Amino acid sequence: MDASCVVVGPACEARVGATNIGRPRQQGKARGVAGVSSWHLRVFAVVVGFLGCLLLAASLLMSAVHQMQFRSGAISMSFRGLQELKQNFARKEQAEQIMHARLLEMATSDSTKNESDGESFELWEEPYKQAHKWKPCAAKHSLADEGPSENNNGFILVSANGGLNQQRVAVCNAVVVAKLLNATLVIPRFLYSSVWKDKSQFGDIYQEDYFVNYMKSDVQIVKDLPPHLQSLDLEAIGSQMTDSDIRKEAEPSEFINLALPVLRKNGLVHFLGFGNRLGFDSVPAHLQRLRCRCNFHALKFAPEIQRLGSVLVQRLRGVSAMQTEMDKQLFGGNMLDGATTAGGGLPSRFVALHMRFEVDMVAYSLCEFGGGEEERRELQAFRETHFPALATRLRNTTVSPEEQRSLGRCPLTPEEAGLILSGLGYDHRTFLYVAGSRIYGGATRLRPLTRLYPNLVTKDDILSSDELAPFKNFSSRLAALDFIACASSDVFAVTDSGSQLSSLVSGYRVYHGRGRAPTLHPNRKRYAQILSEEGGIEWGGFQKRVRIMVDEYKRVRARPRGRSAYRQPRTPGCMCRASGDGSIDF
Ligand SMILES: *[C@@H]1O[C@H](CO)[C@@H](O)[C@H](O)[C@H]1NC(C)=O
Ligand SMILES: *[C@@H]1O[C@H](CO)[C@@H](O)[C@H](O)[C@H]1NC(C)=O
Ligand SMILES: *[C@@H]1O[C@H](CO)[C@@H](O)[C@H](O)[C@H]1NC(C)=O
Ligand SMILES: *[C@@H]1O[C@H](CO)[C@@H](O)[C@H](O)[C@H]1NC(C)=O
Repeated sequence: MDASCVVVGPACEARVGATNIGRPRQQGKARGVAGVSSWHLRVFAVVVGFLGCLLLAASLLMSAVHQMQFRSGAISMSFRGLQELKQNFARKEQAEQIMHARLLEMATSDSTKNESDGESFELWEEPYKQAHKWKPCAAKHSLADEGPSENNNGFILVSANGGLNQQRVAVCNAVVVAKLLNATLVIPRFLYSSVWKDKSQFGDIYQEDYFVNYMKSDVQIVKDLPPHLQSLDLEAIGSQMTDSDIRKEAEPSEFINLALPVLRKNGLVHFLGFGNRLGFDSVPAHLQRLRCRCNFHALKFAPEIQRLGSVLVQRLRGVSAMQTEMDKQLFGGNMLDGATTAGGGLPSRFVALHMRFEVDMVAYSLCEFGGGEEERRELQAFRETHFPALATRLRNTTVSPEEQRSLGRCPLTPEEAGLILSGLGYDHRTFLYVAGSRIYGGATRLRPLTRLYPNLVTKDDILSSDELAPFKNFSSRLAALDFIACASSDVFAVTDSGSQLSSLVSGYRVYHGRGRAPTLHPNRKRYAQILSEEGGIEWGGFQKRVRIMVDEYKRVRARPRGRSAYRQPRTPGCMCRASGDGSIDF
C-alpha cells in the first residue's frame, strides 16, 4: 500500500486501498491551515504578494489573449474562474514554485509549436483494439439469478461514510451483502462528515425509485424500516456492526458467519461505515454482477444533477447535439440543451484532468514540493491538526521526503501533470477541464499548468454562479458534476489512480465507453524515476519514456486479482468478451 493514501477533498475521497500507516482522523476542513504568523514573515509575505500580483496581472492578460485566440466562446465565462483564482492567490501569498524548470521550458516550447505531434501516441483513441471486444453485460438478468429470496432473514441498514464516491461503493457493496444474506436492504443513509459538510441523502444524489425498481428482481429495497423496528436501540441489542467488526475487503463467508446470526436473531443488522468491507475475488459471478448492475446501471444521478451535468458537458464539447451511449447512461431523459447559453463555442474535444492535490493529500504524503521551510511548517501544522497519529509517529521516525518521492508516493503537482500531458503530445490548444477542488497553493501552484494549457477550465468557469447556486453548499453534488464531466471527456487523465473518483470514473469509462474512452494513468514510481533524471534527459527522451509508461497502462486485460471490479469491470458478471465468431464468452 501507498503512504500517500487517505481522505478527502470534495471531489475525491479515501483511497481505494486504505493505508497501512493508519487511519487519519477526518475532522476539520481541508483548508485554512493555521499559518505561521510572526511579523517578519508577514512583511515578507506582503512583498512577495505584491510581486506575485504583478506576475498574476501579466498572466491574466496572457490567459485572456489565449482565450480569445483559441476559444472565443468561452472567454466571458473563463474570467470568472480566473477571478476566483486571483482571490485564492491573494489569500495565499507565495512565490511560484517550479520544480522541473528545465523540462517545463522544453515542454513550453514544444507545445506551442503549431503542428501536433501525436505520432507515437494515440492522443484521442484507445490504441488496443481488444477494448472493443468487451461488452457491458451486467444489465442482463441471468438464469442464475432467482429474484429476491422467499425466506427473508430481515433488514440491512447501512450508514455510509466518506464523500460521494466512497458512498457509491458502499451502496453497491450493501446490495451484494443483502442478497448474500437474503435480506431486505433499507436505502442507505449517508453520514454527515465534518470534512465534506454535506447533508445530502441518497435521494438528493440518486433517483431513489429508479434504483429500487432496477434492483427489484434481485434484492428487495425499501425506503424505511417497518415501524416496529424503528425504535430499537441497535447498539444495545448487538445489531450494530462497525469497521472493526468486519475486515476490509472481507470474504462473503465472513458476512455469513458474523452478520447472519445477528440478522436471524434480531431481524436487522446495521453496518455503520461500510465502504470497502466486501472483497472482490471470492465473490461468485452472480453476486459480482449485482455489484456492477448497481454501480453501472441502477444508480442514476438525481434529475437536477443530470440536467446541470448535461449542460456542463455540452458546453465543454461546444456542441448541443449529443447522444452517445455514455450520455444516455448519465443523463437519461434529463438532457438539457446547453447550446442556448453556451455562447457558441467551437466543437471541440476535451481532456479531463483529475488533480488530486488538495492539502490533506499533500500533507499526508510526507513529501516536499519545493516550497521550502514555509511549506514544511504549514504541512506539519496541518498534520498536527488533522492527522495527529501520523504526526506523532513522524516525530520518532526519519522519513526522508526524497525517498518518498523516489518510491512514487508523492501526489503529482499540477506542473508534473502538465509535463505528462505535454510529453504525450497534447499541445497548448488542448481544452483541459480540471476536476477536483482547492488545489494546494491555489493559482500559484496551478500556474505552470495554465501556462502550458491556457484553455484550462473548471466547472466554475463553465457554469454561471446562478446555475451553480443550488449546488454550492453540497460537496457531493459538486463532485457529481466532476464525475459527469470526467466520464464524458474524450480523454480522462488521472494523477492518482487510487483516488475514488479516478477509480470509479475510469471503470465507468471502461464499462460504458465502448472501447473509445481512453484513460491516462501514470505510474508514479516510474514517473518519479524519469523526473529524477531531468538534469540529463532531452525532451525527446522524456516524451518517449512518458509515452511508454502511459501506454503500458492502456493494455486491455481482464481484472487482475485483488483489483476493484468498479475500477476494472472486465471481469465475469460485469463485462463479457465477444469472441471472433460473434458469440459471447462469459
Ligand atoms: C502558429 O500559428 C499562429 C497563427 O496560426 C501564428 O501566429 C504563430 O506564429 C504560429 N507559431 C509558430 C511557433 O509557428
Ligand atoms: C437464501 O435463499 C436461498 C434460496 O432462496 C438459499 O439457497 C440460501 O441458502 C439462503 N441463504 C441464506 C443465508 O439464508
Ligand atoms: C519513540 O521512541 C522511543 C524510544 O525509541 C519510545 O520509547 C517511544 O515509545 C516512541 N514513541 C512513539 C510515539 O512511538
Ligand atoms: C451556504 O452556506 C452558507 C454558510 O454556511 C450560508 O450562508 C448560505 O446561505 C448557504 N447558501 C445556500 C444556497 O444554501
